[in-house]
Amino acid sequence: MTRKVAVVTGGARGIGRACAHALAERGCDLVLVDLLAPEMARTAAELEGMGARALTFEADVADHARAHAIAAEIDARWGRCDVLVNNAGRSNPRGILDCPEEEFDRTIAINLKSCFNYIQAFVPLMRRTVAVHGGGGRIVSMSSLNAHTGGVTSAVSKFAYASAKAGILGMTRALAKELGPEIAVNAVCPGVIETEIGNSLTRSRGAELARKIALGRVGKPADVARVVGFLACEQPSFITGQHIVVDGFQWEI
Ligand SMILES: NC(=O)c1ccc[n+]([C@@H]2O[C@H](COP(=O)([O-])OP(=O)(O)OC[C@H]3O[C@@H](n4cnc5c(N)ncnc54)[C@H](O)[C@@H]3O)[C@@H](O)[C@H]2O)c1
Repeated sequence: MTRKVAVVTGGARGIGRACAHALAERGCDLVLVDLLAPEMARTAAELEGMGARALTFEADVADHARAHAIAAEIDARWGRCDVLVNNAGRSNPRGILDCPEEEFDRTIAINLKSCFNYIQAFVPLMRRTVAVHGGGGRIVSMSSLNAHTGGVTSAVSKFAYASAKAGILGMTRALAKELGPEIAVNAVCPGVIETEIGNSLTRSRGAELARKIALGRVGKPADVARVVGFLACEQPSFITGQHIVVDGFQWEI
């Protein structure tokens, strides 16, 4: 393999799909992991239309054993992994008194434990890739502005989601130390972005939200993907253990 290989979880649609496009534009072949098989197949076809190769895996990112099985298969088929984007995530609209234990656990599993699953599974292959091809491995995980604000008035994401997304920031800093110098580990914190997750919010309150964003609009998946592409592919890079907020500078949301 002479082209770089990038894994994007939750790559079927929304921000993950835009990240996959951005990475294909930067010369990567893509591995997509998602629950939504038809959407994932569509995105894979788009990537192939851009000249990238694409493999798809229908899988739940909360499944630890499956992450390791996928890494073993990529190793066997492509023998390389340069970039891991931990993007899959799901909101949780419940407050503390309405949230059953299983829903809290599931929110943490999908948003935070998934990062553990995929980082642990792919780091050995990423290290070998760096040893053979150089360049430095890159991990980028999708946190959220909610990790900082708590998502105070947001209708779609409350404390469980904010907890998981804040956990990603701690994991990012710790693993930047543990995995350096071969692998850089960073996070991105989107504000309100127009996707399936963000749509219920943008549809009902789009104009009101835009008035509370310095750049006067809610974000698009490509706004986030551009930053992920930079963190994943810019050579050389001296950035690790950081997060970048991509929110057009949002307040009171
Ligand atoms: N849209 C926003 O406003 C916003 C803001 C901040 C952070 N984020 C984060 O960005 C990431 C992408 O969100 P999005 O807005 O594109 O949402 P989206 O719902 O459009 O896309 C999320 C993707 O992840 C997949 N996914 C969800 N649970 C999964 C699981 N258990 N296993 C495998 N795949 C799974 C979905 O099928 C989907 O393709 C998420 O981590 C989200 O928390 C989004």
